[in-house]
Amino acid sequence: MKILVVGSGGREHAIVTAAAKSPRVTEIICAPGNAGIDSMEVPGKKIGTVKIGAMEFDKLVDYAKDNGVDLTIIGMDDPLVGGVVDAFEAAGLRVFGPRKNAAILEGSKSFSKDLMKKYGIPTAAYEVFTDAGAAYDYLESAKLPIVLKADGLALGKGVLICNTLDEARAGVKTIMEDKKFGDAGSTLVIEEFMTGREVSVLSFTDGETIQIMSSAQDHKRAGDGDTGLNTGGMGTFSPSPFYTDEVDAFCRANIYQKTVDAMKSEGRPFKGVIFFGLMLTEDGPRVLEYNARFGDPEAQVVLPRMKNDIIEVMEACVDGRLSDLKLEFEDNAAVCVVLASDGYPVSYEKGYPITGFEKFDGREYFCFHAGTAKNDKGEIVTNGGRVLGITALGDDLTEARKKAYEATEWISFDNKYMRHDIGKAIDEA
Ligand code: AMP
Ligand code: GLY
Repeated sequence: MKILVVGSGGREHAIVTAAAKSPRVTEIICAPGNAGIDSMEVPGKKIGTVKIGAMEFDKLVDYAKDNGVDLTIIGMDDPLVGGVVDAFEAAGLRVFGPRKNAAILEGSKSFSKDLMKKYGIPTAAYEVFTDAGAAYDYLESAKLPIVLKADGLALGKGVLICNTLDEARAGVKTIMEDKKFGDAGSTLVIEEFMTGREVSVLSFTDGETIQIMSSAQDHKRAGDGDTGLNTGGMGTFSPSPFYTDEVDAFCRANIYQKTVDAMKSEGRPFKGVIFFGLMLTEDGPRVLEYNARFGDPEAQVVLPRMKNDIIEVMEACVDGRLSDLKLEFEDNAAVCVVLASDGYPVSYEKGYPITGFEKFDGREYFCFHAGTAKNDKGEIVTNGGRVLGITALGDDLTEARKKAYEATEWISFDNKYMRHDIGKAIDEA
């Protein structure tokens, strides 16, 4: 089987690594991929990259047709929300991911909030505004802190938590009037502030059946102790010890299947991965957000623990027979520490050579590439804010964490930056 994976981050490297374990797969191409995917060597398999951007739908479709690709896997949010799955289906090609009318679950926060309200799925109270004046008026009597969210995709940056009325007013101006996040900010969601621990739960769904993967927790802030700016994610661990059987039972009864059924009832059947961003509040779990794809770096701790053949699971989703399968995870733990370029997420330098890849065995230690490229000397160099995801498996979280931090020392590059407290929360569990 020939597989095409669309995207270029650590998530896509983790997807390619999982797909390479499938005995049915002979070839995997990633568009556009990164230097790590391009350098992968798996006996008996051909793995490489092709220089086609994730938003170049026509070129992707032509590539898949011309090269006899059997299944395309979309890793990233932008192409999903833009309708890449519809483009593949229109050409008669097999593709894993939600259509445009379902990817809106991530693409529009007002859509997802309205869906949750309509179907009684627990989430924070909210109001939607398309007029800045009305938003300012609303703030006058709103309870603080308050959360402002640009409606559309904004690279995970369109959420502002405002502690004072002045900050909230400035936030409305930034999003709706200055259009800092572009058109994503034409519609604004103003949401009640919640407190609690966050958990990421990824799932596979075929539009009817949903199966939950092992839980994970991300660390979104740039600095130790959850300080500094929000990032795409600085590290993850899986499973989350805070995702108890009680939490799981609540979410199964009130969130997961209800979401899939709601999308179906709306005429928007969702096939692919639904990522539930949950907050465990004092009043029970609440949905913070939905994503229409694997999380990054959540995929880098969840997929190495999955026992199933990922291609079999994805094909079952595409064909609507997910109920025939049972998802299974190893009874172990994983921790991923992101190595970033110092200065991320604001400004940073790129192009520094990276060394130290030799010791990663792809069994207990993984080095997933995110922002890397090859220079004209053939060296692998830094090429983004998040450069590498260093994942280690262990019998439990404590061991996985120790091993992941040891492995971060194997890698060297100028301006290497990481958080030192990924997974520290497990000590409180
Ligand atoms: P989102 O993109 O909706 O996940 O928001 C990004 C981050 O903002 C979340 O991971 C939370 O840490 C925080 N956040 C979002 N909504 C809320 C809320 N209603 N209350 C408190 N924190 C929130
Ligand atoms: N790690 C959060 C995300 O992928 O959106």
